[in-house]
Amino acid sequence: ATPLRTLAAAKGKFIGFAAATSPLANEAAYRTIAQTEFNQITAENAMKWDATEPSDNSWNFSGADQIVNFAVANNQAVHGHTLVWHSQTPGWVQGLGATAMRTAMQDHITTLVGRYASNTALQSWDVVNEVFEENGSFRSSFWYNTLGQSFIADAFRYARAADPDAKLCINDYNVEGINAKSTAMYNLVQSLRAQNVPVDCVGFQGHLATQYGFPSDLQQNMARFAALGVQVRVTELDVRILTPRTSAKDTVQAQYYTNVVNACLAVTACAGITIWGFTDKYSWVPDTFPSEGFALPYDSSYAVKPAYTAINTALGGS
Ligand code: G3I
Repeated sequence: ATPLRTLAAAKGKFIGFAAATSPLANEAAYRTIAQTEFNQITAENAMKWDATEPSDNSWNFSGADQIVNFAVANNQAVHGHTLVWHSQTPGWVQGLGATAMRTAMQDHITTLVGRYASNTALQSWDVVNEVFEENGSFRSSFWYNTLGQSFIADAFRYARAADPDAKLCINDYNVEGINAKSTAMYNLVQSLRAQNVPVDCVGFQGHLATQYGFPSDLQQNMARFAALGVQVRVTELDVRILTPRTSAKDTVQAQYYTNVVNACLAVTACAGITIWGFTDKYSWVPDTFPSEGFALPYDSSYAVKPAYTAINTALGGS
């Protein structure tokens, strides 16, 4: 089959994956697919706060650099994930008072974004991640509880100052369809942009599950965000099924992947799609949902599944 990256590029889109650092370093089969099929990479964990700045102003860029270097060598774009999140942030940050917390956030963003600002592979960042509850109110995180919603605008301004060329994104899950959470996100993006806060992009994670149905208004939802003037992208796509895996479930899953690709192709402002991994050998799903899994387009032996063929075909492959 024609590689996904060739097909996507011909449509003006990226097709990416979330990289785990260990197999990227140690497994030839993983590396081969990573470089052959994808033209974009997101670090699954290596750029998060706990990985990069485990204690105050003590930095570890080994995993982040590994991924950026791989991308440069393979002519791939990197999406930085993620600057400000309530999860995977060390305790030393969570316990700070308001003034010190804002300073820590600024220092973190300035140093991490600044490190890659002149690297042309690093093209975008998730500046804030998962700031909403399901009902559309702001998430009761240590960020929000200490700083109020101003931490969001501040984070975008710090990121813009550190890399004026990167696309700056707000990212969340369960915002693929039109619902209370995605509408809260829409209202926030509209209001931030009206205040000249540099929000360039909205990321729809896309952690889908076949038992919950496909968000059939995905394209319509992307289009309403695009009308605000932002780029949109699917940032963490996977489609989990209830175990055991069967060929009937593979078929349903493949249709979900087709639907996501078709929605992105139909919306000019959709820059591309990142899959949250590519092989069932390395996926967050079974660790979090013990009776679910098999969410990715390659099986745990690196053989393609119907989901791979679906993505390839939807991108124009034959
Ligand atoms: O780093 C430790 C390691 O030292 C230890 O040996 C190992 C033992 O289990 O755990 C390692 O940390 C794990 C880390 O992944 C790296 O493998 C954490 O326990 C584990 O919780 C963590 O899970 C990640 C999760 O984010 C954390 O919230 C997943 O890999 C990652 O796929 C997942 O990704 C998130 C996105 O960032 C945001 N959107 C949702 C998505 C899925 O949850």
